[in-house]
Amino acid sequence: MMEEINLLDTHPKTVRDYDKRGAEKTPEIVRLAKQFGKDFFDGDRKCGYGGYRYDGRWKSVVGRMRERYKLADNAAILDIGCGKGFMLNDFKELLPGATVAGIDVSEYAIGNAMPSVKPFLKIASAEKLPYPDKSFDLVISINSIHNLPLERLKTALREINRVCRGNSYITIDAWRNETERENLFKWVLTAETMMHTDDWKKLFAETGYKGDYWWFIAD
Ligand SMILES: C[S@@+](CC[C@H](N)C(=O)[O-])C[C@H]1O[C@@H](n2cnc3c(N)ncnc32)[C@H](O)[C@@H]1O
Repeated sequence: MMEEINLLDTHPKTVRDYDKRGAEKTPEIVRLAKQFGKDFFDGDRKCGYGGYRYDGRWKSVVGRMRERYKLADNAAILDIGCGKGFMLNDFKELLPGATVAGIDVSEYAIGNAMPSVKPFLKIASAEKLPYPDKSFDLVISINSIHNLPLERLKTALREINRVCRGNSYITIDAWRNETERENLFKWVLTAETMMHTDDWKKLFAETGYKGDYWWFIAD
């Protein structure tokens, strides 16, 4: 499947004050955020999430993924940029027989991951996945691979294809018009690669990315 599809539209709508974030952003805040440590996840909102806590928002998303991708009870699922493993926890609840795996560059997130999935998580980067070819029925990456600069991001897209034997789903920072572009630049702390949605689609064609996709849009 290769479709532009929003599987996250059941998420609670986050209120974002783009001007405030843009005005508060300093090189020091960006430096701290890019470490993906405690400041980014559980520090001040200026530096990232301002408290990255489990709230069950992934339950409906994983239900939709199970249906869309016809996941078997024993499916193998990888989450790239899994953070504390919230989504994988919900997959494991929905499909107890599934094999779940997650990678993230953040030692802090993996160290503070949900105990239910912590044994299945590894510290690694999206551009070098520590798994053999065709290991997973579903590979997911939510708002994570845009943290790589362009060339390394291309490698990450190829890595998704390599480890995937079924479907994949990614979301990345993008815009469709000038207002969204301006808002995104005010908002982002960590992303290295952001593009117009049309340019992302060209990149998918260039790298041979074959999965579904959606956007983080600052509208
Ligand atoms: C915006 S958070 C999203 C976390 C999670 N996917 C979610 O939606 O709740 C971005 C995540 O990407 C991770 N990350 C950043 N660079 C990465 C890389 N090169 N490879 C894998 N994960 C990365 C960060 O540590 C962080 O957990």
